[in-house]
Amino acid sequence: MTTVTNLVTMDEAKRAAARAAIAELPEGGVIGLGTGSTAKLFIDVVGELVAKGHKYIGVPTSDASRAQAIALGIPLLGDEGPWDIAVAVDGADEVDPRLDLIKGGGGAQTREKIVNYSARKNVIVVDGSKLSARLGEKWHIPIEVLAFAHKATAAHLAVHGKPVLRMAGAEPRRTDAGNLIYDLACGPIADAPGLDVILHAIPGVVETGLFIGRADVVIVARESGIERLVRHGA
Ligand code: 5RP
Repeated sequence: MTTVTNLVTMDEAKRAAARAAIAELPEGGVIGLGTGSTAKLFIDVVGELVAKGHKYIGVPTSDASRAQAIALGIPLLGDEGPWDIAVAVDGADEVDPRLDLIKGGGGAQTREKIVNYSARKNVIVVDGSKLSARLGEKWHIPIEVLAFAHKATAAHLAVHGKPVLRMAGAEPRRTDAGNLIYDLACGPIADAPGLDVILHAIPGVVETGLFIGRADVVIVARESGIERLVRHGA
């Protein structure tokens, strides 16, 4: 455990975690840029490094991360792939002791998972509140679904929990791909890998927010310091 002393606020702790993630990067090369408030802090630091001459090229996981990277002058690869990503750094909504994750609080889990799968190493940056004994204890599973027949898809999801259509004001929230999101409240999940397989088999489901075995390193920011967790076998 690496300790960073005197982190006064959670914001500072998140910023320290974002900086700690830099130690996981190579000197230069292709890196995945996550989405969310913690990933945003990481992208800020990458921008500082690029401004100092580091040769990083980003693959963004959302339109928001792309816009931020462009504003910071970080060179980017196109959306089509394939990419040879050395390290991807992203946030998460919930992390269990096996370092399985729930992601998608920002609605970007599909692109995040695609980028994650193209990365040789995945580093997740979270604050301490995201750790739980079992996935589903603190968070619902965000599920991106096609708009076509989404109520039929939701009825199938309802077998496994309570699906709530995510809204943006009076309208359903659309993902960057134009799809909808159902947040599936299931409570603590006994078998997250098994549930992920079942959810993927439902027609209309584009991607789930369950990331099983996809985190190699988790950097946890607490007010008291930074902890680096490594997935068993990673
Ligand atoms: C976006 C995500 C985010 O990484 C996740 O929601 C964590 O965000 P934050 O760092 O703001 O808590 O999965 O789809």
